[in-house]
Amino acid sequence: MKKSGRDYIVFPLDFPSMAEAQSYVRLLDPHVGMFKIGLELFIHQGPEAVRMIRDMSAARIFLDLKLHDIGTTVFRAMDRVADLGVDLATVHCSSSVKMLEMAVQGARKKVGVLGVTLLTDNDGKTLSKGGFQQQFSADPGKLVMLRAQVAHDAGCAGVVCSGGEAAGIKTRFGKYFLTVTPGIRPAWTLTKQDDQKRVTTPARAIAQGSDLLVIGRPIRDAQDPAAAARKVVEEIETALDRSLSV
Ligand code: C5P
Repeated sequence: MKKSGRDYIVFPLDFPSMAEAQSYVRLLDPHVGMFKIGLELFIHQGPEAVRMIRDMSAARIFLDLKLHDIGTTVFRAMDRVADLGVDLATVHCSSSVKMLEMAVQGARKKVGVLGVTLLTDNDGKTLSKGGFQQQFSADPGKLVMLRAQVAHDAGCAGVVCSGGEAAGIKTRFGKYFLTVTPGIRPAWTLTKQDDQKRVTTPARAIAQGSDLLVIGRPIRDAQDPAAAARKVVEEIETALDRSLSV
């Protein structure tokens, strides 16, 4: 089935209370294809948050806990995640290939494992301060590609990367290796400064071949979140039409 504009949008339910999360599920259900549960909601509400989305919506669910621990612990955690009924879950790529393999084993093909390559609030300066070699601080995309390779070799379903990096990853690992891109800022919000550094517009992320766009604050903090989501859907659909016509 052909993907529509809304199928590309992942809305992060970055709220502490179930009531707030529920109100955004109700409001955005017609406009987004996937809801993301992150640390804030999961720490407050646990698996009940997954059940709430299942009860209220047919959207897919992404559990973004960004696991990073010894392989055995990640295996055991992912084994629990596999029974929650979510579609995607994240682990960091910055540990070993073994850890990622154990995450994939724990997932038992019931959930797609995504490797987080490099957080989008990190840039070359962050890498330089963190002691990374100059080749990576000068070009963070090189580190992203290295980590995508590790995720691919471990059998992950795909990676989380910035929109600017998706095209290179698609070229190297093929169209079935998912690229999920946060740090999305529609052109009409680009004047506002925030903590995301490697940002991309929805149109550019689509042109780069991103499969899923995580869009939080530009929708959540808009005066009319449903209208903002519709505007993003339009931008995505225009970009999809353009990519089909070239
Ligand atoms: O659009 P906005 O910046 O509000 O989106 C923030 C969401 O994206 C958070 O839920 C955060 O966990 C997620 N995210 C991110 N950078 C990554 C991976 C996920 O900002 N590399």
